[in-house]
Amino acid sequence: MLLTSSDVPSEIWQTVLHELHRGALDAKHPFRYVTLATIGTHFPHVRTVVLRELTSNLEFLVYIDARSAKVQDLLEVPRVSLLFYHPKKQVQVRVKALATIHSEDELAQEYWKRISEKRQSEYKSSLAPGTRIENPELGWESSMERSYFSVLKFSPLSIEVLQLAKDGHLRIQFELASGWKGSWMVP
Ligand SMILES: Cc1cc2nc3c(=O)[nH]c(=O)nc-3n(C[C@H](O)[C@H](O)[C@H](O)COP(=O)(O)O)c2cc1C
Repeated sequence: MLLTSSDVPSEIWQTVLHELHRGALDAKHPFRYVTLATIGTHFPHVRTVVLRELTSNLEFLVYIDARSAKVQDLLEVPRVSLLFYHPKKQVQVRVKALATIHSEDELAQEYWKRISEKRQSEYKSSLAPGTRIENPELGWESSMERSYFSVLKFSPLSIEVLQLAKDGHLRIQFELASGWKGSWMVP
């Protein structure tokens, strides 16, 4: 268990942030993988992405290809939800956030330098992600001329935590508007 009913909200806040930080740092941590939901025209769009960093300003960073469909969603509606689940600790974390797209700017360049050459090639495919192709090999062709690497930055507005527990589930919400003060909720 990550939280107990005797923890005060300020302690829970620190515990949750610590666990999210660990997710970004440790490839084996379950918070390393996050479900990112965007608002599409007809359906909600969800996909798994890797949490690359939780900055000291509490921004979640994710690497993407600038041509991917999520970018179109975000240009239309920059509001997202992020979903984390820790199966051993039985904790769900739901984040509502505002997204900004960083392509070819200082931030994108800074993070580009941190990626190995092999990984960089993943952002250089000749065809855009999602393009229909005759055979899978066509999807691996890369153009050496340019990369479409971009960084998505998510600034949270609310972070809600659900702890499953035998003695009673616990649910608490932290909101930016209240200075990240936590409020208990009916689970
Ligand atoms: C374990 C896992 C990790 C992934 N990490 C990323 C990631 O960090 N960034 C990314 O753009 N796509 C990542 N993907 C692929 C996305 O889930 C998705 O298929 C792709 O980004 C296209 O999504 P879109 O068409 O909605 O833009 C990952 C997929 C899996 C299964």
